Amino acid sequence: MKAMVYDRYGSPDVLTLREVEKPAVADDGVLVRVRAASVNPVDWHTLTGTPYMVRVQAGLREPKSELLGVDFAGTVEDVGSSVNGFQPGDEVFGARSGALSEYVCARKVVVAKPANLTFEEAAAVPVAAVSALQGLRDKGGIQSGHRVLINGASGGVGTFAVQIAKALGAEVTAVCSTRNVETAQSLGADDVIDYTQEDFTRNGRRYDLMLDIAGNRSWTDCKRILEDNGTLVFVGGPKTNPLVGPLGHCVKVLVASLPGSRDVKIFIARVTKEDLTVLRELLEAGKIKPVIEKRYDLSDAPEALRYLGEGHARGKLVIIV
Ligand SMILES: NC(=O)c1ccc[n+]([C@@H]2O[C@H](COP(=O)([O-])OP(=O)(O)OC[C@H]3O[C@@H](n4cnc5c(N)ncnc54)[C@H](OP(=O)(O)O)[C@@H]3O)[C@@H](O)[C@H]2O)c1
Repeated sequence: MKAMVYDRYGSPDVLTLREVEKPAVADDGVLVRVRAASVNPVDWHTLTGTPYMVRVQAGLREPKSELLGVDFAGTVEDVGSSVNGFQPGDEVFGARSGALSEYVCARKVVVAKPANLTFEEAAAVPVAAVSALQGLRDKGGIQSGHRVLINGASGGVGTFAVQIAKALGAEVTAVCSTRNVETAQSLGADDVIDYTQEDFTRNGRRYDLMLDIAGNRSWTDCKRILEDNGTLVFVGGPKTNPLVGPLGHCVKVLVASLPGSRDVKIFIARVTKEDLTVLRELLEAGKIKPVIEKRYDLSDAPEALRYLGEGHARGKLVIIV
């Protein structure tokens, strides 16, 4: 099969489209013919080996796996002997490392594709939408009627977060740059703040929950906009710390927040079958919809990763396999 492969950490230039062995179906797996994939910052980190912390898992000197990618959507080609509930031809989506390939053998994290979504749309969902869901629901304890601010509302995670927060009954303020204001409004945000024009921490408004996807504000700034019992949930942050990346900033804010009544939470999302099922229901009910800025052929995946690495993609970047 064809796959995007790399044998050393580096920029997207180290990626090549090559013929590699097609995975065999595992007893507990489902072999999927990938029709579309999407790229996430986690793929950028795995590709570049930055921050260095990622190498603990991905391989210290060189990548342990030559394959890249996580999000996929496609059709089931073969089903492992101990797997129930799937048959060849089923349309599915999920998460599995090595998704920038013609085939993946998905194990636990694969579910039926939402009937109303194309493969491209379904491939845009897993990592970004699960991160938004787990950040708002599990870490943020979002409740209907909460005032929620989403900083970084126009990227992969942010475009889902605005819609999920609205679907859960919150009043949503989206923070993004000028070119994405209309997109944020179209996703249902009650208020949109263009961060190039206005500092959202200095307008006197306060929130029950801030989902910080951009992760670029100090604790003094965040505290100013949080209710006394409010919560700040970090999803992302600046890439500047070469050792631990965004974690450096998040821990600094967490420590600064400790004497107060407000909660600061840091988390790493875990894509699960259960949460993909929750999202499928929201997608099929039309309550959320993926935003896709650009589509690329598999051979142009390096271009997609380059654009993603600039940090200003609108919604998701999808790879057609
Ligand atoms: N904790 C986890 O498990 C987890 C899971 C997924 C992602 N993440 C992290 O979350 C972050 C975002 O992921 P993503 O998939 O949404 O990335 P993305 O698709 O690249 O989106 C990044 C967004 O950040 C916005 N942005 C850039 N500078 C900003 C600023 N100064 N203020 C507000 N927004 C700004 C951009 O919007 P504009 O173009 O409008 O500026 C862009 O839309 C990354 O750091 C990623 O590593 C963490």
